[in-house]
Amino acid sequence: MQIATGQALRILYRLKLIRSCPPHDVGIEFYRKKVSWGLRPDACSCDIEFVEYLQKIKAEDKNIFHFGTGSHHIVGLENQKFIHPNEIIAITASVPEYQSYTDLFIKQPELAKYYKVFLGDIYTLTDRFLPQLDIVTLFHLCEFYFPENSPKLHHNDASLLQLFLDKLNVGGKILFYKKSFAWGDTEALVKKFEQQEKIKQTEEYKSLLVYSKI
Ligand SMILES: C[S@@+](CC[C@H](N)C(=O)[O-])C[C@H]1O[C@@H](n2cnc3c(N)ncnc32)[C@H](O)[C@@H]1O
Repeated sequence: MQIATGQALRILYRLKLIRSCPPHDVGIEFYRKKVSWGLRPDACSCDIEFVEYLQKIKAEDKNIFHFGTGSHHIVGLENQKFIHPNEIIAITASVPEYQSYTDLFIKQPELAKYYKVFLGDIYTLTDRFLPQLDIVTLFHLCEFYFPENSPKLHHNDASLLQLFLDKLNVGGKILFYKKSFAWGDTEALVKKFEQQEKIKQTEEYKSLLVYSKI
């Protein structure tokens, strides 16, 4: 009997024999219902580096949008240690990750004062929904877009990047993660925006590239 790759991965994930499975392999429904990403700096260092970057530039009292919380919520937990914490809104597409936020919220309700997580699909966001922003993390751009889902979405990767650029305050920053498994696609998109003179790179911190709006 042959087991399809997706089915095999779903079984291995349920048995906890593998720790990650991208939605393109296991299907978006399984991903949303079952998959949860713990803190794994070896496999994905972006959130840890982002926290370090915020500390390095002493970013306080800024409006931040964070794409992809994981179940660890390190960005929100570390942010609340600042004297003047940033106001962070963060999205996850995973029900168990969102559940980890609600569990934390029950134990430490003060976390929600500066860190609000919501469950949804980033490609459904709109100009009307988002506030003006100072810092945006698009670490997972191009990782999770499904063209076949487009009737249920407002955006693809290019229009999502444009949406966040439009919401960026003067002097604001958009950060990308060059170790993303989709970095090839993201880099091509970023280069296109650079050629169109919409963005320019201003900094690099470890695996994070920092861009500003032109
Ligand atoms: C590989 S995990 C990385 C989590 C975290 N950034 C870290 O470094 O540990 C990818 C994250 O992106 C989120 N995600 C995936 N597709 C998404 C989508 N379409 N909309 C919103 N969030 C999404 C997942 O829920 C998850 O939090």
